[in-house]
Amino acid sequence: MHILLTGGTGLIGQHLCQLWRGQGHRLTVWSRRPDEVAKICGAGVRGVVRLDDIDADDAVDAVVNLAGAPIADRPWTAARRTLLWASRVTLTEQLLAWLERREQRPQVLVSGSAVGWYGDGGERELTEASAPVKEDFASQLCIAWEETAQRAQALGMRVVLVRTGLVLAADGGFLSRLRLPYKLGLGGPLGDGRQWMPWIHIEDQIALIDFLVQHKDASGPYNACAPEPVRNRAFAKCLGRALRRPAFMPMPALLLRAGLGELSTLLLGGQRARPVRLLAAGFTFRFNDLQSALDDLSSRL
Ligand SMILES: NC(=O)c1ccc[n+]([C@@H]2O[C@H](COP(=O)([O-])OP(=O)(O)OC[C@H]3O[C@@H](n4cnc5c(N)ncnc54)[C@H](OP(=O)(O)O)[C@@H]3O)[C@@H](O)[C@H]2O)c1
Repeated sequence: MHILLTGGTGLIGQHLCQLWRGQGHRLTVWSRRPDEVAKICGAGVRGVVRLDDIDADDAVDAVVNLAGAPIADRPWTAARRTLLWASRVTLTEQLLAWLERREQRPQVLVSGSAVGWYGDGGERELTEASAPVKEDFASQLCIAWEETAQRAQALGMRVVLVRTGLVLAADGGFLSRLRLPYKLGLGGPLGDGRQWMPWIHIEDQIALIDFLVQHKDASGPYNACAPEPVRNRAFAKCLGRALRRPAFMPMPALLLRAGLGELSTLLLGGQRARPVRLLAAGFTFRFNDLQSALDDLSSRL
């Protein structure tokens, strides 16, 4: 297959490239830094700075759309919101415009989203049939991102939306940011620690994207999180145990709200999300239990 990725140089994209290169697929990554693509994604992966650099007769079979500026890196100032929006919604609009121009269209578009699509769900159990519970900037962003990608259906493509939870990996993402505070013994729950945290091991995230690309009857939204979400305080306890460090130092909600503004809703709110549609489709998670996922990654953290 010839697979086109956006965000191919990111955490999830790099792991996908590794899997698909190993399987002999041909990969093209649309990137702001095309010259670095082969170094980051592996030899033979082509980087393009413009989609029109892909020849009209060079058929693309599948598109995986993951690009987006990091959402939790800094407070959501007006300028940051504009960038977060442009790097997902506007970029996906550009992708759609290119797909529209192509005579030979890919069969499938797998497009990124997040469990944040639901907003803070409180205690409610969330499946793909649930509506957004409480809208905030992150959920509005995901809703617009999904709606834009969904338009590829009118072009005759199968569209899959991957509502991803917190991806646990040893080489980037959320865990690499927690490593230092936990190693210093400063880890612990955020706020009252009761908020639900849908998580997923990187290996399962890659396997499920591959599964959704391959399964010709898969379409629509899929919660990409392990079947057993945990509360934030249980997460802190498991991570402390995996790193053999104490994890009792709570981070007061007031401090998070004062320092991060609305971004704090990502940390203090949560989703009790379940991957109902993936399980129904026959996908098997390798990591169902958080402690086993963290123990697997901890020696590489
Ligand atoms: N990791 C998670 O825990 C998680 C959870 C839920 C949802 N997601 C979503 O899934 C997607 C992939 O996640 P990830 O962790 O692999 O992301 P990542 O490591 O942050 O990489 C995303 C990629 O997006 C591109 N990008 C960054 N800033 C950009 C900008 N201003 N304009 C255009 N492109 C930009 C970059 O590609 P180039 O530099 O090559 O252009 C980057 O490699 C993201 O959109 C993220 O929001 C991730």
